[in-house]
Amino acid sequence: MCGIIGVSGVRDAPEVIVEALRRLEYRGYDSAGMAIYQDGSFKRVREATGTHSVELLAKHVKDFQGSESVSGVGHNRWATHGKPSQENAHPQFDCSGRVAVVHNGIVENFAELKDELLSQGHLFTSDTDTEVIAHLLEVALGGTDRIDDALAEVFSKLRGAMAIVAMETSRPTLLACVRRTSPLIIATNGDEGFIASDIPAILGRAKHYYQIDDAVVASVELGEVRAFKLDHTEVEPREFVVTWDLTRAARDGYDDFMSKEIMEQPQAIRDTLAGRLQHWDTSGIQLDELRVEVEKLQRVNKIFMIGCGTSYHACMAARYAIESLCKIPVELDVASEFRYREPRLDEQTLVIAVSQSGETLDTIAALAEASSSGAVSLVVSNVVDSSMARMADSVIYTHAGPEVCVASTKTYLAQIVALELFAIYFAKLKGTSTTAELRSLASALEELAEKVGQLTNRFAEMVGVASKVENFERFYFIGRNVGFPVALEGALKLKELSYLPAEGFPAGELKHGPIAMLDASSVVVAIATRGRLWEKVMANLQEVKARGAKVLLVASEGDNETIAEGDAAFVVPETHPLLSPVLDTIPLQILAYHLARYRGFDVDRPRNLAKTVTVE
Ligand code: M6R
Repeated sequence: MCGIIGVSGVRDAPEVIVEALRRLEYRGYDSAGMAIYQDGSFKRVREATGTHSVELLAKHVKDFQGSESVSGVGHNRWATHGKPSQENAHPQFDCSGRVAVVHNGIVENFAELKDELLSQGHLFTSDTDTEVIAHLLEVALGGTDRIDDALAEVFSKLRGAMAIVAMETSRPTLLACVRRTSPLIIATNGDEGFIASDIPAILGRAKHYYQIDDAVVASVELGEVRAFKLDHTEVEPREFVVTWDLTRAARDGYDDFMSKEIMEQPQAIRDTLAGRLQHWDTSGIQLDELRVEVEKLQRVNKIFMIGCGTSYHACMAARYAIESLCKIPVELDVASEFRYREPRLDEQTLVIAVSQSGETLDTIAALAEASSSGAVSLVVSNVVDSSMARMADSVIYTHAGPEVCVASTKTYLAQIVALELFAIYFAKLKGTSTTAELRSLASALEELAEKVGQLTNRFAEMVGVASKVENFERFYFIGRNVGFPVALEGALKLKELSYLPAEGFPAGELKHGPIAMLDASSVVVAIATRGRLWEKVMANLQEVKARGAKVLLVASEGDNETIAEGDAAFVVPETHPLLSPVLDTIPLQILAYHLARYRGFDVDRPRNLAKTVTVE
């Protein structure tokens, strides 16, 4: 978490930094700050006012007028060490204010390093682990002006996953950075240099983008990029192509990113399917990257699917397709738990890691564990060349475009689609399904974007349905089979956006305990589309109604019999049963969106959260 930006040789550096921080707000927003080099020293401004920190920081841009400001660093913070406050906001300085540091991640051994620095007489002004880096750089720099060399020396003393950008006053156009697991990219445009946590921060400003590998110190000085390993052997900066455009990362007239991203779901699905379905039955579906022999994949006899939060729910939703078509055991794990239960992994195991960002530390750690056990790995990621994509044996990218809202919407739908494409690919590879079975899913995938569009076009109508429960304060989501992950995702969306207590259960489990909580003040949202277990869901619904709970349904279009059982219903088009989680989730996204707005909350930046979670 935390967003980092650094600029070198960029005219109007304060404006450019603030704009980048706006675009990086999804990574953290409890405080924000920037340090700009002006007239021989750093001028620093910091704000710690929760979700409005960047907005307030922008008001300081005028303070920089009058002197040249072409180099500086900026930061959005998601607090780990030290509460959100101006003192703890970044950039952090050394004793003399010569060094400015912005940092994402955690310095695990900061306490011992801080003790040592204190005993040497260094003065600390914050509770952050980051400040330790600034003081260590002060020592390592000595009389030189090479912040990149100093950073290499300091980095080898730091433990933990992190990304750092540092600069110093005697050579202020030289910005140095280094990362371990946490994301960071370098970019240039003529004589301008940039370092950022993520592409959207500098989209439209930068032209050439460079990947920074783990434990490689990279620097940018004006438009010059240099990189070297910690032992000082030079490495060639690796350029990559960015196809996202600025309009896809901007709000484009919508009130917020969440509604924009919900509306972009048909396109996200089209783009994820583009070019992949045409020849599925002849040449097959192409993975974006395949770095192992196909024979190795063919020998796989067990699959683990891992992810966190919404990405975990995508795994759960797609598991039904993989098990049904590939006839192979599939286990699901929340990534943060996976490696601590000693899973039985070997070369015949495939581990599928799913992540929007490709940078979630829990999932990266689980993937690393899987790879070290010899398992074959597949990553589904929305960010090209993300850390996970680079670690894996094979990759499928979801082409959902940048997702800015902290709550995942379009990337979730795209993940399910990508995983179901994999189910077709793998079933074909192993010969476990008939062509007719695969054709039926492939045809349904082809029609999916159109059906998603029918739903998103009815956004306002769904807000009307959601408004029927706007004064309730407890929500339970139930579903069976493919409806169960939908229930979990509906509850997660509602919790994270509206802060209302919400839980998801398999509908059949309700009677084993949770039903005790139901009364007239609770809402039960039931996924009651015409799937395989529709009748059983209807039976469970009777149990709910008998306890007086308000019933909100997700039902199939035209299914008046089901609709009559609820107090209100969202109706969705019919599709292939394995794809129904894609459609059934959309009304629940809108339900969460509406209830959060009704309660006056910022839907794009829910409290206490960050878009990319790069701490364990
Ligand atoms: O980037 P990832 O998909 O790995 O992120 C995983 C979760 O942190 C993420 O899905 C989170 O649960 C979202 N806020 C859900 O809306």
